[in-house]
Amino acid sequence: MIGIFDSGLGGLIAFREIKKLLPDYSYIYLGDTLRSPYGSRSQEAIYRFTEKAIDFLFQQGCSLVIIACNTASAEALRKIQQDYLPNNIKDSPHFVGEVGKFKNVLGVVRPIAEEAINVSKTKKIAVVGTRATITSNVYEKELNNLSKTLMKEKNKGVKVFQKACPLLVPLIEEGWDKKPETKKILKNYLWKIKNDNVDTLILGCTHYPILLAEFKRIMGKRDQVLDSSKIIAEKLKAYLDRHPEIEMELDKKKKIKYLVTDLNDNFQKMSQKILNEKVEFDWVNLD
Ligand code: DGL
Repeated sequence: MIGIFDSGLGGLIAFREIKKLLPDYSYIYLGDTLRSPYGSRSQEAIYRFTEKAIDFLFQQGCSLVIIACNTASAEALRKIQQDYLPNNIKDSPHFVGEVGKFKNVLGVVRPIAEEAINVSKTKKIAVVGTRATITSNVYEKELNNLSKTLMKEKNKGVKVFQKACPLLVPLIEEGWDKKPETKKILKNYLWKIKNDNVDTLILGCTHYPILLAEFKRIMGKRDQVLDSSKIIAEKLKAYLDRHPEIEMELDKKKKIKYLVTDLNDNFQKMSQKILNEKVEFDWVNLD
């Protein structure tokens, strides 16, 4: 099974694209709605919550877990891959064991950064995200590393411009994505980035693709605004093509389980709006 983990609601936007592109697999979606939002929490807390969720998904039989949440990818993925996997999962890819027992955890920052480096012509790239994602500088570090390894032209480094947009998640979760107030706030967040003459904008937060049209309108025709939800789905497909040892572990019964750590009417309403269908969420306790 493939586990899709997010702090709450926003990961459903990426999951919608994943199941569209890869409909044959079985999935567990886990939203940590009890502790969401993660975006203004400390790194320590984000790591603790993420580790619990990953542990739970492995116990449920997932062999591959995608951390769809940018904040959790930024603040927890590296430690999960370096400490948690080798120490807790004997059969992780770090362990050279028999085929048929591989497990892995992937995040969303690297695949999105890779796409940005590939499509940007000027290598002036902007990133928007939660406060935790932006202060972690994870996109800047990843883009710099990639520019060193992937870009052929010498001396053409990447320039990264970042902006935290903490008001956007609550506005989107409130269903205010079409309101003039939200458009005004977005314009305010973007004016500096727009003046920095970037050619590519990374939507480094699960929720922001809901405002894709507005991001595009404000940035103008010259700039490419990357739809992170589509990129995540395409990169997952490419990963499975490259890793048959993981792919063959995955259940292909097309079963989907939706799990949350807390549930209320607004979440139910918003999830229906995102998925275009009413799905049944089961409550789980990660403690
Ligand atoms: N899922 C988070 C992200 O992509 C946004 C919501 C939150 O702050 O928990 O960064």
